[in-house]
Amino acid sequence: MPTDSDARPDTPAGVPTGCTGYLAAEGYTDDLIHELGEVVSVHGRLVLAAGPPRPAAWAQNVWFDPVRLPIASIGDAARGLRAMQRNWVAYAFHLHRRSELIAAKLPPVSAKPLLFGAPVPTAPLGSWCLENEHSLLAAPRCSSPFAHGAPTFVENRSDPPNRAYRKLWEAFTVTGCRPLAGQLCLDLGSSPGGWTWVLHELGARVISVDKAPLAPHIAALPRVEYVQASAFSLDPTRFAAVDWLFSDVICYPQRLWAMTEKWRDSGKVRNMLCSIKFQRDTDHETAARFAAVPGATLFHLAQNKHELTWLWHSEPPPA
Ligand SMILES: C[S@@+](CC[C@H](N)C(=O)[O-])C[C@H]1O[C@@H](n2cnc3c(N)ncnc32)[C@H](O)[C@@H]1O
Repeated sequence: MPTDSDARPDTPAGVPTGCTGYLAAEGYTDDLIHELGEVVSVHGRLVLAAGPPRPAAWAQNVWFDPVRLPIASIGDAARGLRAMQRNWVAYAFHLHRRSELIAAKLPPVSAKPLLFGAPVPTAPLGSWCLENEHSLLAAPRCSSPFAHGAPTFVENRSDPPNRAYRKLWEAFTVTGCRPLAGQLCLDLGSSPGGWTWVLHELGARVISVDKAPLAPHIAALPRVEYVQASAFSLDPTRFAAVDWLFSDVICYPQRLWAMTEKWRDSGKVRNMLCSIKFQRDTDHETAARFAAVPGATLFHLAQNKHELTWLWHSEPPPA
């Protein structure tokens, strides 16, 4: 194995790849490749595609302007990375020992779980991986300040009735959007009440709708009203303004699409955040329809499984 002693005295600069790197959500590399269309190369979950970044819902993190760095040794690799910037996270999908040895020569980066609501890290966090023994791919800037686009949180193991609350924590943290105290939220498909708990904790008023009951301690919260009904039976015209509509209903994406269109057409709702849940095959066509709605963002949370999260804000009225 080459050692530090054969490192070159001057550190070579990386060679631009002319690509953008997209790190697929774990288990969804094929979905990401389908979404991107033509790709240049695949390295584990990292997919390189030519040109500037484009929207990619199945990407957990985007590597901006990745460069290829020839390396003669472990020390050479670490020096090359340090010359670009301070904070790096390794995407070690193969050559684990060599990756570990390089990472050990880089400054430590805090991986402490975040307290929900605390400010997100602002320091740039670069990503790198070994392409082979003699070359690495490195992106000093990535779309997410969290390692591989996956924030971890200090968990609350006592108050919420299940672990679904972590999806909303992550969605609110990565988008910077969340309901304000006093706002009215409709939480559809809410049982046993993890999301309702999060919304109530933020100070919102929650109309919590499910065919199944809420956990008793969630149903008893002061600003929670439980409605036992099908989410699809709700008539938006019977509501005054709704600040946020949330849906975690298990249903086909096309059925969710019809429901969100009904609410958008009604003009009664200002923001929506919905889980689009896929069955065996990903319904790429419906996902693309959601992504194309003006004011919408479609993304995969680290907490999501075979589902995407859709966030939509209504256009502000003309001045
Ligand atoms: C993934 S769970 C929701 C978990 C919930 N968000 C939480 O944080 O606890 C999906 C829910 O969708 C509900 N559901 C399925 N079909 C529904 C429908 N037509 N109307 C309302 N809820 C429905 C199920 O009863 C189930 O509670």
